[in-house]
Amino acid sequence: MLNKVLIVGAGSIGRRHTENFGKYISHVDIVDIRDDRIAEAESKFKINKSFKDYNEAIAKNKYDAVIITAPPHLHLPIANKAVEFNNNIFIEKPLGIDVKGWDEVSKICSRKKLVNYVAYCHRHINYTNKFKSIIDDNKIGKIFNIVIRWGSYLPDWHPWEDYRSFYMAKKEQGGGALLDESHGIDLLRYIFGEVKEVFAIVDKISNLEITADDHAFLTLRLKNNSLAQISFDLNARYTFCKIEATGENGTAIWDRVDHKIKIFNSIEKNWTEEKFSKDDFLNMYQNQTNHYLDCLKNKIDPLIDIKDALKTQLIIDKSFESTSKKKIIAIED
Ligand SMILES: NC(=O)c1ccc[n+]([C@@H]2O[C@H](COP(=O)([O-])OP(=O)(O)OC[C@H]3O[C@@H](n4cnc5c(N)ncnc54)[C@H](O)[C@@H]3O)[C@@H](O)[C@H]2O)c1
Repeated sequence: MLNKVLIVGAGSIGRRHTENFGKYISHVDIVDIRDDRIAEAESKFKINKSFKDYNEAIAKNKYDAVIITAPPHLHLPIANKAVEFNNNIFIEKPLGIDVKGWDEVSKICSRKKLVNYVAYCHRHINYTNKFKSIIDDNKIGKIFNIVIRWGSYLPDWHPWEDYRSFYMAKKEQGGGALLDESHGIDLLRYIFGEVKEVFAIVDKISNLEITADDHAFLTLRLKNNSLAQISFDLNARYTFCKIEATGENGTAIWDRVDHKIKIFNSIEKNWTEEKFSKDDFLNMYQNQTNHYLDCLKNKIDPLIDIKDALKTQLIIDKSFESTSKKKIIAIED
């Protein structure tokens, strides 16, 4: 029976996971370096014990899982500590700030049979999987190109704090459009296939007061020869979150703002549209929690593990490299 988890980082997503895991797990401990974050979580949720140092929490307790919800630059050291003490891990996206060190964590997990999951949660939206089956079932034929647009305005994200103090503003903590919005790269791989090469411009060009990038524009070729363009930004005053695929028999659109899928059939020359709800989108978090608990209970492989997320992380690393070298970079296996 599963009864004990540790959540490391009691910020925005940490609170959500505390609530979701708390529905099934009787003993939830949390860690945060900030007293106000601990106090807020304790006032809202049933917390067994709170810590200010994850090393102490992990060394003193055996958990069924350690849920890593701190800023990205801390994901690797927390994961290393958790697996050293034989804990299963759940890592928020992005995997980390780069690929370094993760292969070793993955190997330790394999050796110790630890369930390791990376939270690219958009795979758990029901209409993402509907969209994937439209592509898999060849409804619009061979795919020629994919355009992904992901944008929103950073100062709107956390109305309770000054965006300049949020980790997202800080390059050294793993902030920025490319790392954060890498959900789009994960979905590209999940739905359309693996990437062969990338050319990217990743830059800070707006007047946001941040040291991280606020724009990441990527042009990619997939191994199956389809072309993709991805644009991520932190400046869009109206949120965009869209995938548009053009195939030989039509176009399919996944829209995570209006919660719908639209298909243009180029033979019949008509549009069909299927509408979903905001709950379908938000349920991804609970679906993800249930999936992870299922993996723990039944020792099944998670939908996305470190090995899988490393492929997305490699594309991120190569996009930064492409920007500095001003070159197309191959994505090696
Ligand atoms: N999957 C999603 O939909 C989703 C949504 C939001 C955030 N995230 C990811 O979750 C992570 C956190 O994002 P957030 O928005 O919750 O950030 P946040 O700033 O709201 O929360 C991070 C928390 O970690 C705490 N922290 C910092 N150093 C720590 C340490 N050494 N030990 C313990 N706690 C520490 C901070 O005090 C803060 O409370 C990021 O990787 C982000 O990309 C994912």
